[in-house]
Amino acid sequence: MQKRSIGKSVFMVNPIGLGSMGFSEFYGKPTDEAEAIATIHASLEMGVEHFDSAEMYGMGANEKLLGKALQGRMQDIVVATKFGIGRDRTTGAVTGLDGSEAALRRSCEGSLKALGVEAIDLYYQHRMDPNTPIEETMEVLAALVTEGKIKAIGLSECSAQTLRRAHVVHPVAAVQSEYSLFSRDIEDDIIPACIELGVSLVAYSPLGRGMLTGNYNAKNLDLSKHDYRHTSPRFKGDNYTANIALVDVVKTIASQHDAHPAQVALAWVLAQGEHVLAIPGTTKLSNLRSNMQAARVHLGDEDMAQLSVLSAQVKGDRYGDMSAVNR
Ligand code: ATR
Repeated sequence: MQKRSIGKSVFMVNPIGLGSMGFSEFYGKPTDEAEAIATIHASLEMGVEHFDSAEMYGMGANEKLLGKALQGRMQDIVVATKFGIGRDRTTGAVTGLDGSEAALRRSCEGSLKALGVEAIDLYYQHRMDPNTPIEETMEVLAALVTEGKIKAIGLSECSAQTLRRAHVVHPVAAVQSEYSLFSRDIEDDIIPACIELGVSLVAYSPLGRGMLTGNYNAKNLDLSKHDYRHTSPRFKGDNYTANIALVDVVKTIASQHDAHPAQVALAWVLAQGEHVLAIPGTTKLSNLRSNMQAARVHLGDEDMAQLSVLSAQVKGDRYGDMSAVNR
């Protein structure tokens, strides 16, 4: 697959990367470490060049996992991580959003140590802190670039206005937002701002948190009790029934292309432009292999027309609490 750049940074990567959150939490119990490391090693063989983590995933465990798995192999890849969401070390509950200098510097040192690197390739603010102006946080991020502790700056789930303010202080390489056939609200203002400023859009949950893979049906939503999708409005009751019915369109198009629905969902994301990269999350080798083949699916005009009407029919917010999104 033709590589794409991450913003105007030096990074050129396969546009399909790996969202590694699921190895540590949120989609059930953590993956056995040896199995996760084997999957990460296999992903390198399959051409993954962009790995995405965050301090808050497993409260440091996810970064440590990537650090261990990728030690000695990081020179030709991009490992991204994120700061800014505080968690209670005992309960795991989110305690708040913090973009202050003290919190940022503390997080950065922790992530450098957990990843075992001298510099973080791409460092995102995970959610915007309502109490710290973006300019202040960006000044610290810019200083971390100068100090050689991070190489590029990203913002996750920011508004277009915040992106523009941030970009004045220091170029932003990437905005990471949820973006998929089912989640297209960022097309109104955030994506146009990204294109104008030369910022990449890194699409997380490009598979609608698994909904678009065709793995589930109306009767079977077999989530473990540790799965955070129990709290997702889109996976609840009537919303779920309505949403899962929409996936039939994706399945039909997939069968016409002799492809997997997840490949169609990823092909659609990648077809949105050179500025878009996707980081589907998977913990399974077979799913990873399939996802990495998504670029072979070429969607025609008729496919695109059928797919483009789906998002308007999706029921339920992306999160139970949307208050920290698009600030
Ligand atoms: P996120 O960015 O939050 O990880 P996502 O990429 O939209 O969300 O979807 C991730 C979910 O899709 C995971 O539950 C993953 O499950 P596995 O870890 O079991 O793979 C699932 N998933 C990813 N690729 C898949 C595929 N090709 N077929 C079926 N399920 C897949």
